[in-house]
Amino acid sequence: MNRANLEILLGTIFVVFTAIALIVYGLEEENRMARYSQGQQAEAIEVGAYLFELNCSECHGDNAEGRVGLAPALNDRYFFTERLNQLGWAGTMEDYIQATISSGRITSTRPNQYAGYGVPAMPAWSENYGGPLRMDQIRAITAFIMNFEPIALGEVVMPDFPTPMPPPEEEDDPFLRGRRVFLDMGCAGCHALEGISVSTIGPPLNDITTVAETRIPELSAEEYIRQSILFPRIHTVEGYPDIMPEGFGDRMTEQQFEDLIFFLMEQE
Ligand code: HEC
Ligand code: HEC
Repeated sequence: MNRANLEILLGTIFVVFTAIALIVYGLEEENRMARYSQGQQAEAIEVGAYLFELNCSECHGDNAEGRVGLAPALNDRYFFTERLNQLGWAGTMEDYIQATISSGRITSTRPNQYAGYGVPAMPAWSENYGGPLRMDQIRAITAFIMNFEPIALGEVVMPDFPTPMPPPEEEDDPFLRGRRVFLDMGCAGCHALEGISVSTIGPPLNDITTVAETRIPELSAEEYIRQSILFPRIHTVEGYPDIMPEGFGDRMTEQQFEDLIFFLMEQE
């Protein structure tokens, strides 16, 4: 090999090595960037969780599970799969969440179900709209809410996330299933029932079947109970404010409603 050829060979080897080194470094750099943005994402979710607890949980619940009469769940399947279609929103979920948080809601789109505390149903949060939060904080809250998506879609199961499915021993017993619905729907927050609640906001339901028999002469006990739950404004009970939330019918499956009726009809 003459000198010129040797130089070309060495040059080629050098170029090849440099290229390989660059590729390896580039790949590693990509990993580094991925790790970095994953870290940033985790940090944003944590900040978002903190801000959510401070500003949003009073209406939307501690884990964004929603609260009866006040505000909808932001962590369930309906919210992530159907809500946008129903509103005719063409953008992404993230944009919807960010926009809604930023500008708030003058009136609820479902005033029967969620009226918030009145007008506005939800205050505007962005400082651009006179609210208290910066845009980066709103992005962090959005990341926190988006974090529920895989759980809501059933792609990830969180060990201690409350599941709407009844425990196995309840499955064949309509009484126990109905009791579960009574608890899950928050009825116990207002109604006393032996062994479950001593609340005095609404009438006690210990012997509701017997009481319901006497309420409206033309209605059977069962008809009266059904109507009282589905259309709380139709019947009023003396001595109690007319504040039972509307919209329970929309929040239960037919099976859950029938189980609840079964459970209440056993309270004589
Ligand atoms: C005063 C009670 C209240 C507070 C506090 C509140 N919200 Fe809301 N929020 C509501 C109501 C009411 C709605 C409207 C529901 C509707 O239109 O049916 C709503 C709607 C939303 C929606 C759209 C939900 C949907 O199904 O379309 C998002 C997202 C949201 N809120 C996020 C937040 C975040 C994040 C915070 C805290 C920064 C917050 N909210 C604080 C009452 C509240
Ligand atoms: C925010 C409080 C509240 C919640 C939550 C609530 N209720 Fe009521 N409920 C009331 C009040 C107050 C009344 C009486 C005034 C009226 O009829 O509006 C009432 C009336 C009733 C009656 C008629 C009682 C009678 O003596 O005539 C039944 C039955 C009933 N509720 C069942 C339920 C069930 C089942 C749930 C859960 C799915 C539920 N309620 C959730 C407050 C509540």
